[in-house]
Amino acid sequence: MKAVLFYYSQSGQALRAAENICKGFDKTDVVCKEIVPLEHYPFPWSRREFFEVFPETRLGICPSGIAPLNLEDVKDADIVLIAAQSWFLSPSLPLLSFLCDENVKNFLRGREVVFVNVCRNMWLKTSEALKLRFKEIGAYFRGQIILQDASSNYVSAITIVRWLLHGKKKATKILPEAGVKEEELAAAARFGKVIETSLLSGNTATLQQELLKEGAIKYRPSILSLEKTAFPIFGRWAKFIRKKGGYKEPKRQFRVKLFYFYLLFVLFVLSPFAQLFFLLTRPLRKVKSNKLRDCNL
Ligand SMILES: Cc1cc2nc3c(=O)[nH]c(=O)nc-3n(C[C@H](O)[C@H](O)[C@H](O)COP(=O)(O)O)c2cc1C
Repeated sequence: MKAVLFYYSQSGQALRAAENICKGFDKTDVVCKEIVPLEHYPFPWSRREFFEVFPETRLGICPSGIAPLNLEDVKDADIVLIAAQSWFLSPSLPLLSFLCDENVKNFLRGREVVFVNVCRNMWLKTSEALKLRFKEIGAYFRGQIILQDASSNYVSAITIVRWLLHGKKKATKILPEAGVKEEELAAAARFGKVIETSLLSGNTATLQQELLKEGAIKYRPSILSLEKTAFPIFGRWAKFIRKKGGYKEPKRQFRVKLFYFYLLFVLFVLSPFAQLFFLLTRPLRKVKSNKLRDCNL
């Protein structure tokens, strides 16, 4: 058996997750291919660069392509793994650029795909966007593994800002380490076993159910409820900013900055109240049916 792994990762977190998943393969050779966007995205980010990518990411507009990928040696791959991340509740721009590449689209058509999202905690809208993309491309979205920061939404918002904007990942006296825990990345090998067993049995149609049984998605309804509320609002902000110009247009800087203040307010002031409201009204919500819909493909 043969698998091809495409990955994009700034810190190496998504790559480590995918490599561990591949360690779970016993009878499958893995060929790794890095997604290299033509536009360089810095790490750590400056605040300006970080917010500059917001409108295009949220609206799914590719500002640039990717370096050409040689796919000759993986033509005979039995399964495709893609490891990447969410940016602004959407597929990250490098992932989006990968999926917009004609060569890649031709390669993915008719193939079975497993997506590994290694993100903070808001992955749902990325998943929905990918369902649509894969359908358009003609690829079969068979599995989805979400590895997320286990801290509370409030704490992970602080630690991710320290990490992404200041390069500080390590724990302090009061804050945990940023990102997905190393133990969790290591434990991802169990998903590789599930994927391989499913491939060997020739029944990949039920792969996602098997992955879910292994805990491939930790469903956190109060956080996802925030994501669902924020998504359309982000969309309006993105359109509002783009009225002043496209990617890197200096004229839109003022609006980008306004969005930055808005996001700070939402993350650190509004969202704890919104989560509390969710918990109080939880019995009135359709958490079970939402979970079924959100976690399946
Ligand atoms: C511009 C940007 C926006 C992000 N937005 C989200 C988001 O909406 N949801 C989320 O869960 N994580 C978000 N993250 C965190 C990433 O998904 C990811 O965990 C982090 O960037 C580290 O990934 P990497 O080092 O593997 O590239 C964002 C990161 C960046 C750089």
